[in-house]
Amino acid sequence: MPSEEDSISFEKSNMTIDSNEIETDNDSESDPNRVKDFVVTPWEVEGDIDYSKLIEKFGTRAIDDTLIEKIKNFTGEIHPFLKNKYFFSHRDLDVVLDEYKRGNKFYLYTGRGPSGLVHLGHLMPWLFTKYLQEKFNVNLIFQLTDDEKFLFNSNLDMEAIQKYTYENILDIISIGFDPKRTKIIVDTKHIKYLYPLSIEIAKKITYSTAKAVFGFSNSSNIGMIGFPPVQGAPCFLPSIFENKPTPVLIPAAIDQDPYWRVTRDVAEKLGYPKPAQIHSKFIPGLTSLGKMSSSRPETALFTVDEPEILETKIKNTFTGGQPTIALQRKLGGNANICPVYWYLNYLFDTEKESQERYNDCTGGNLLCGECKGDMIKKVKPFIKDIQIKRDKAQNLIKDFMIDGKDFFEDDNAGSN
Ligand code: TYM
Repeated sequence: MPSEEDSISFEKSNMTIDSNEIETDNDSESDPNRVKDFVVTPWEVEGDIDYSKLIEKFGTRAIDDTLIEKIKNFTGEIHPFLKNKYFFSHRDLDVVLDEYKRGNKFYLYTGRGPSGLVHLGHLMPWLFTKYLQEKFNVNLIFQLTDDEKFLFNSNLDMEAIQKYTYENILDIISIGFDPKRTKIIVDTKHIKYLYPLSIEIAKKITYSTAKAVFGFSNSSNIGMIGFPPVQGAPCFLPSIFENKPTPVLIPAAIDQDPYWRVTRDVAEKLGYPKPAQIHSKFIPGLTSLGKMSSSRPETALFTVDEPEILETKIKNTFTGGQPTIALQRKLGGNANICPVYWYLNYLFDTEKESQERYNDCTGGNLLCGECKGDMIKKVKPFIKDIQIKRDKAQNLIKDFMIDGKDFFEDDNAGSN
């Protein structure tokens, strides 16, 4: 009786890794993206993440001061997300900037997997993308991978995903992207734009490469295995739109990097520029280490949360504080592991305010309740503003969709 393992043995005899960039781990059936103490994959982020180790493991490059200065030459200032190293790693960002200087404009490309409501973590790369769109005056492709979320989540059906896709589009529009320069692609609605490129990419990636990069196993459904080229395809769409090789820059958290590794590897073979990336860290969950995640609502602040809910969630947040006020005053808190400190650092405090907060906390002069109070004061109006824009977004959807149609517009309307 052949075992499950035997059923793919013909693949193993053909196990070539077609890549200089892809780190492989073929001797092990374990997930190659797992590093001791933490794990970062497009579908799982857990543990106490060491971002320098991730740079090493993924083979990316740190964003250093020289690169930050180079960006400043175009933007005229240093964005807070670069100053505080929230965006910390990249691939070929320098190349894209050099091309831009020569007059070859890049496209931005980012996305969302609509498996739930949008939280503060998702907004971070989008806010930065909007900033880049404004500063460089460039086009943006925004992909919603509803197919990915269907294939990777056994507990989600397409009806629920469609609901989240619609809700997430309202959030995306509320960020304030330029409708003339932004096109939203929903995979199951707009697959005709992606499919020809997806099959070109798919044909160049072997199963053994996909397994090595994404950690697929014999129990992965075959839709999962076939999905990565669909997320790779928008990297090459701009070259088709512009009818010439057009660079693409992807702002996203570093969990998405495995997709870009395989896409970069096939790019030049297909005659397209390698897509460049700028990688961010993660906004931590409210209750633990690891990232804020919509699949664990108790860890997340959602854009649709009412002010009282936000307040309650923030009041209940895990912090780096001591168990009692007396101990906090005596020993100080641990700001490094405190989500409240990091939310304020990443989103709301100036560099100076954050440094003072850090010193006051670790020196025992600041109590957790005070930081939580500061966060409540900042988060409430921030989310309220998004909610107002979300309401207006309902009437703007077709301005953003790649086919110019409303979300619920029947694709066959008008045809016999
Ligand atoms: P998704 O929906 O998991 O995440 C959307 C974007 O948010 C980032 N992100 C976070 N950033 C900071 N802190 C967090 N806690 C946090 N959680 C998520 C993700 O890195 C991502 O940038 N497969 C993708 C959808 C996609 C995509 C893309 C993303 C399709 N094409 C191109 C980025 C770029 C997904 O499921 O993302």
